[in-house]
Amino acid sequence: MSAGWFETVAQAQQRARKRLPPSVYSALVAGSEMGVTVADNLTAFGELGFAPHVAGLSGKRDQASTVMGQQLSLPVMISPTGVQAVHPDGEVAVARAAAARGTAIGLSSFASKPIEEVAAANPQTMFQMYWTGGRDKLVARMERARSAGAVGLIITTDWSFSSGRDWGSPAIPERMDLRAMLRFAPEAVRRPGWLLDFARAGRVPDLTAPNLADGGAAPTFFGAYGEWMQTPLPTWDDIAWLREQWGGPFMLKGVMRVDDARRAVDAGVTAISVSNHGGNNLDGTPAPIRALPAIAAAVGGQVEVVLDGGIRRGSDVVKAVALGARAVMIGRAYLWGLAAGGQTGVENVLDILRGGIDSALLGLGLCSIRDLSAADVVIPDGFGRVLGV
Ligand SMILES: Cc1cc2nc3c(=O)[nH]c(=O)nc-3n(C[C@H](O)[C@H](O)[C@H](O)COP(=O)(O)O)c2cc1C
Repeated sequence: MSAGWFETVAQAQQRARKRLPPSVYSALVAGSEMGVTVADNLTAFGELGFAPHVAGLSGKRDQASTVMGQQLSLPVMISPTGVQAVHPDGEVAVARAAAARGTAIGLSSFASKPIEEVAAANPQTMFQMYWTGGRDKLVARMERARSAGAVGLIITTDWSFSSGRDWGSPAIPERMDLRAMLRFAPEAVRRPGWLLDFARAGRVPDLTAPNLADGGAAPTFFGAYGEWMQTPLPTWDDIAWLREQWGGPFMLKGVMRVDDARRAVDAGVTAISVSNHGGNNLDGTPAPIRALPAIAAAVGGQVEVVLDGGIRRGSDVVKAVALGARAVMIGRAYLWGLAAGGQTGVENVLDILRGGIDSALLGLGLCSIRDLSAADVVIPDGFGRVLGV
């Protein structure tokens, strides 16, 4: 066990808080408005329980799954996030960790590393796009991802450009020029470990989005965000069009309603992720685990249903699979691991989740995640939310 090892995701988060400059840490905490949704994403898992057996348990337990044609050694994938200033190896470290643990990574179009480097580090890389820049640019970026070896496309459309947080948002500079570095310096010097990582890598945090470069220089994060805000919003026909252009495994991320899930089926998607963007979109949206059972019942026979939001333990994964998810995606959990220990930290997080899944299966007396059903979970009255029926 290495010195940097941590035993829970909560511990990784504590390390991240100590290691990262406060503004970087708070960009990962994120959330919106009152933080009702970001809190419910965690609370809801705590409301679900288990009723473990005491004997006749299974000595071997299988947690392999497949999503969008990808074999996964555990039902946990990496959800796309931009991790600009967390660690100099950024998404490449995350991709390596996921590959080492046998799972897939979704790479954000706002990521700090180019798709070519990430796909080279993990052959199970999926590229995530927002609807930004219009059809020609979308196709060009998608084709770049295809050439780089992306094995799936994720489109995220649950973003309403709200940003106000009652606890305040960090001031993120447009680019890391001298002026920004001087302003940022007092924070950074209080975080020598983080500073040293970047110093050893010989660079300052790159606040650009190389996957939106369109053959030229990578735009700044804010330049890219500006383009996105000015792009006309996608219709369901646009989603169906993009899926057709891609032609391969395609996920719509951010579905919370049964009617939207049905429209996603009509648009021909391979998979949906039941998700509220980690509580960063419309505050007041319920936790995805509450919306999952109704959505899985409605469309689980037609598309692959994944969940993301609030996963911090292996038992959370088991609860989600029991309520109808094929697998989950994690966001903050791996960001904390990356901040705490780079690639090793992300591997540590995946190991924690694998161990927790195994323990829950053991206690439930099951030999495979495929045997999980809602009957394995104690669900309090009024837990679920049926949206859009
Ligand atoms: C800092 C941060 C950045 C994110 N960036 C993106 C993104 O670029 N694209 C996207 O589809 N989702 C993004 N998300 C949402 C995650 O993919 C995922 O839905 C969410 O983090 C899941 O919740 P969890 O953090 O509780 O696991 C981001 C989330 C966070 C916390």
